[in-house]
Amino acid sequence: MKKDVIVIAIYNNKGGIGKSTFAINLLHSLVTDFKREDGTPYRCLAIDNDGQSNATLTLTGKSEDEISETTENTMFNLMTDEDVLAKDCVINTKFENIFLIPATDDHSDTPDAISNEMDNTRIMKEKIAPIKSEYDFIVIDCAPTKDRNVYNALFAADIVLSPMETQLFSRVGLRNLLKQVNKVNKKRETPLLHYVFLSKVDNRQKTNNQKVKENLQTVLLDDFIDKGISLLSLYVKSLDEGYTAINYPSDNRGKIEIRDLTQKILEKINEELI
Ligand SMILES: Nc1ncnc2c1ncn2[C@@H]1O[C@H](COP(=O)(O)OP(=O)(O)O)[C@@H](O)[C@H]1O
Ligand SMILES: [Mg+2]
Repeated sequence: MKKDVIVIAIYNNKGGIGKSTFAINLLHSLVTDFKREDGTPYRCLAIDNDGQSNATLTLTGKSEDEISETTENTMFNLMTDEDVLAKDCVINTKFENIFLIPATDDHSDTPDAISNEMDNTRIMKEKIAPIKSEYDFIVIDCAPTKDRNVYNALFAADIVLSPMETQLFSRVGLRNLLKQVNKVNKKRETPLLHYVFLSKVDNRQKTNNQKVKENLQTVLLDDFIDKGISLLSLYVKSLDEGYTAINYPSDNRGKIEIRDLTQKILEKINEELI
C-alpha cells in the first residue's frame, strides 16, 4: 500500500440520516470483518466531530457526565488550544482496536472559538498529522452543519462519505452538497473523493427507492455506491443495548449490509487512492 492511513469523513448537512450509526458500524466492521495484508487487524481512530457526542457515548458506553469527569482533553480543547496535542486526546473505547478523540457539548462552540485563527480550516489536519501513522483508518463523524468544524474535517480527510435518506432525497440538497465539496476541492492540494450511498432505505418503497437511485446515478456516476443501508430497528436496538450491528446476537442482516458496503468502499479506495 502506497498510502498508509485513510482518513474518512462521514458527512451530510442533514441530521438524523444515520451518519453516526454508520460511522460506528463502519469502524467495527473494519476491525472485525477485514484484515491488513499481513493478517493482523486494522487499528482505527474515531474522531467525534459533533457536539452531540453520539459517537463518543456509543463507543465508550459512558454517560455524558462520566465523559466530562474522566476525560481531560476533548475536541474543543484540541481545536481551540494550540498546546493541546492529538496524542493527549485519544482514549480507549469499548472496542478492541478502535480508539477515540471524544467530543463533549462544548464542541458546538469550537467554530466561534477558532474564528480568529489564521488558517482556521486546517487545524484538524495539522493536529492529527503527528498521530496519523499509528492508524490504518481515521473516521470523522461530522455534525450536520456547514461550519468550521465540518470544513476542518473536509480538509483533513481523503474521502467524504455521504449517507442520503431516500425519503428526504432532494436534487437541490444533493447539488448543494456537491457544491460544498467542490468548494473545498478548489483549495485542496489533492482532491477529496466523495461517495454517496442510501441510508435508512425502506425496502417496502421499491418504486421510490428505484427513482432515487436513478437520480443519484445520473448525477454522481461512479461516485454513487449502489450498496445501501436498510431501515431496520436492529440498527437502533443494537447500539441501545451496547452492541453494534456487527456483533448483534440475534440478527445478522445489519452485519452483512455493513460488511458489503465497507467492502465496496475499500474497493473504491484501492481503485482511486492507493
Ligand atoms: N439504518 C437505520 N435504520 C433504522 N434507524 C436508524 C438507522 N440508522 C440510524 N437510525 C436511527 O436514526 C436516528 C438518527 O441516526 P444517527 O446515526 O444519529 O444520524 P445522524 O448522525 O445522521 O444525525 C437514530 O435514532 C438512529 O438510531
Ligand atoms: Mg450524528
